[in-house]
Amino acid sequence: MSPRAPALSDPRPVLVTGAAGFIGYHVAEALLARGERVVGVDNMNAYYDPRLKEERLARLSASPGFEFVRLDLAEPAPTAALFAACRPQRVIHLAAQAGVRWSVSHPEDFVTANLVAFLQVLEGCRAVGVQHLVYASSSSVYGDQARQPLHEGSGADHPLSLYAATKRCNELMAHSYAHLFGLPSTGLRYFSVYGPYGRPDMAVYLFAEAMRAGRPIQLFNHGDMVRDFTYVDDVVAGTLAALDHPPAAGPAPEDDDPARSAAPFRVYNLGGGSPRPLVDLVDALERALGVTAIRELVGPQPADVRETRADVSRLADAVGYAPSVPLEEGVRRFAAWYLGRSGR
Ligand SMILES: NC(=O)c1ccc[n+]([C@@H]2O[C@H](COP(=O)([O-])OP(=O)(O)OC[C@H]3O[C@@H](n4cnc5c(N)ncnc54)[C@H](O)[C@@H]3O)[C@@H](O)[C@H]2O)c1
Repeated sequence: MSPRAPALSDPRPVLVTGAAGFIGYHVAEALLARGERVVGVDNMNAYYDPRLKEERLARLSASPGFEFVRLDLAEPAPTAALFAACRPQRVIHLAAQAGVRWSVSHPEDFVTANLVAFLQVLEGCRAVGVQHLVYASSSSVYGDQARQPLHEGSGADHPLSLYAATKRCNELMAHSYAHLFGLPSTGLRYFSVYGPYGRPDMAVYLFAEAMRAGRPIQLFNHGDMVRDFTYVDDVVAGTLAALDHPPAAGPAPEDDDPARSAAPFRVYNLGGGSPRPLVDLVDALERALGVTAIRELVGPQPADVRETRADVSRLADAVGYAPSVPLEEGVRRFAAWYLGRSGR
């Protein structure tokens, strides 16, 4: 679709950015399955092998309700043209430069993809009067907090990486547009998402690759890490439930809660709700792949958070979020996909 030509008539499509990415692909697929029309956007960058992005897109493109637009959301004119052409009422913004460690060595990528592009998306939403913007934030905004589980009401002002800083900044930018222009927005702080079609730069995939090749896997902080792993189907369910519950403006909250305000603005944790030591992931992968891992215990990474435990009660109360896929089952499903890909 050219960004200038409105290709889809009402009902208006949901605009999903980062649709060729891991979570965007699954979210778009679920929207299509429930009968929505979807316009997917992605710039198909080569941060990881774009063939995986092509593979995801090919699956989405099999659905008549899906259209794809390749563009860089950091570019103002084409992004404005896209919003004018498709006039979405709902936007799920998942396009971003991800990767905590990558942000240490490639800070510019994060400013462009996560701040400049986010502004263009906000502007597009403002221009066409979007009724709900849902966007990806991250558990990394919490930094290294001793007080666990992590709760939206606690502070998120000491990020350990530029990636985390850009995600926190997105929340603040979204708040300003909610206040100034009445743009309802929901930020979702995702916690370590994994599953089929997952990202090759993340632990589950990296470990699987190394284990199958007989290479050692590195366990940072000598393996002393806890993650609230979240299976992608739970992420999709939580994201769509949030989409269906746009926040309304209301009276200012009496407490000093940073995740609430008088503006139509919310921020929620979206985690699996069952935090596990990193070694449990390795154990589950060993069973699912039928290989033994060579474990190499190495020191901590400065941008890494040691522990993430999500308090998901707010999202549960607000939209009925109830994660249901335990780590062992999720890893089995990941492994089935991983082993089924050609060449394995
Ligand atoms: N996967 C996780 O565990 C996790 C955890 C916390 C937050 N998040 C956030 O969730 C979102 C989706 O993550 P993912 O794991 O699917 O990552 P992903 O890298 O697979 O998907 C992001 C997609 O955005 C696209 N993109 C990047 N910059 C763009 C731009 N300027 N214009 C258009 N497209 C662009 C990329 O090509 C990619 O396909 C991201 O915002 C990420 O920061 C993910």
